[in-house]
Amino acid sequence: MGKFARGDLPPMAKSEGEVTSWALSRRHLRGTPPGKGLTVGILEGKNLLITGVLTDDSLAYGVAETAQREGARVILTGFGRGLSLTTRTARKLPDPPEVLELDVQDPDHAATVAAAVADRFGTLDGLVHAIGFAPANCLGHGMMAASWSEVATMLEVSTYSLKSLTEAFLPLLAAGTGGSVVGLDFDAAQAWPGYDWMGVAKAGLESLTRYLARELGPQGIRVNLIAAGPIRTIAAKSIPGFATFEEVWGERAPLGWDVNTDADAVARACVALLSDWFPRTTGEIIHVDGGFHAVGA
Ligand SMILES: NC(=O)c1ccc[n+]([C@@H]2O[C@H](COP(=O)([O-])OP(=O)(O)OC[C@H]3O[C@@H](n4cnc5c(N)ncnc54)[C@H](O)[C@@H]3O)[C@@H](O)[C@H]2O)c1
Repeated sequence: MGKFARGDLPPMAKSEGEVTSWALSRRHLRGTPPGKGLTVGILEGKNLLITGVLTDDSLAYGVAETAQREGARVILTGFGRGLSLTTRTARKLPDPPEVLELDVQDPDHAATVAAAVADRFGTLDGLVHAIGFAPANCLGHGMMAASWSEVATMLEVSTYSLKSLTEAFLPLLAAGTGGSVVGLDFDAAQAWPGYDWMGVAKAGLESLTRYLARELGPQGIRVNLIAAGPIRTIAAKSIPGFATFEEVWGERAPLGWDVNTDADAVARACVALLSDWFPRTTGEIIHVDGGFHAVGA
């Protein structure tokens, strides 16, 4: 094992010996195929369903890639006209996974996917909710422009779907080793320029996470969110004024923030929550934002 630069040490490590498994895991991330390296990944033996992969910029793509490198078996879902793009994107993953069709507005889809997952995996250890959609009037037009039916569509897809998906996969999650549901959030504690009704949807997602955590904890199921800083994805590019987030974030976040490369930090946090390393954490919102949320100016 070679020497490590100071910046390479994980925060808790005091010596090189202590970093061995971490370093091997980093090596694993850099491209050692699953099963061929010296490490056992933190998701070894876990079965995951990951929604929300559209392109390789999607936050969920990074989660799927890191999860596979950490030993997980993965199934993806794709939606509507984007399904063929998801299928093409899936081929770029280290171990190209099966892609199933899932539109969260179609009640039959979740049941069909749950049956397919039961057939392939038997049980499910983790479910990733990386889904968001807002009709145009809900973003960048202030709070008065959107009609109820537009807001209702947005809430159904972006908020309620955490409940409907969790419900559909509940028997499979409860039968596994301790299910982990992880959703993607954008900090809803304050009002952002242009984020408008999507901020309301995310506030609902945060509250729903706490209620689901409360209800499902007795079945050994954890429900948590990662509140990510801004990352340039298809969904983010559709937010008018997204550029104003980008500039402020990079300047203010104590650890800094890069909208092009910090998806990897988001992916690793999701994988940690999917693993056995957060066994007593539920109803939580973990910020992966360079520390932006913690400082005022
Ligand atoms: N990119 C960011 O800056 C950022 C920051 C914080 C949180 N998030 C959240 O991350 C999640 C993923 O977004 P992303 O930025 O990776 O963008 P993305 O465009 O890559 O992903 C959005 C996904 O939502 C899916 N989707 C939309 N409507 C659907 C439906 N009816 N049924 C099923 N799937 C549907 C799309 O197919 C797509 O895969 C979203 O919840 C988003 O709000 C993103």
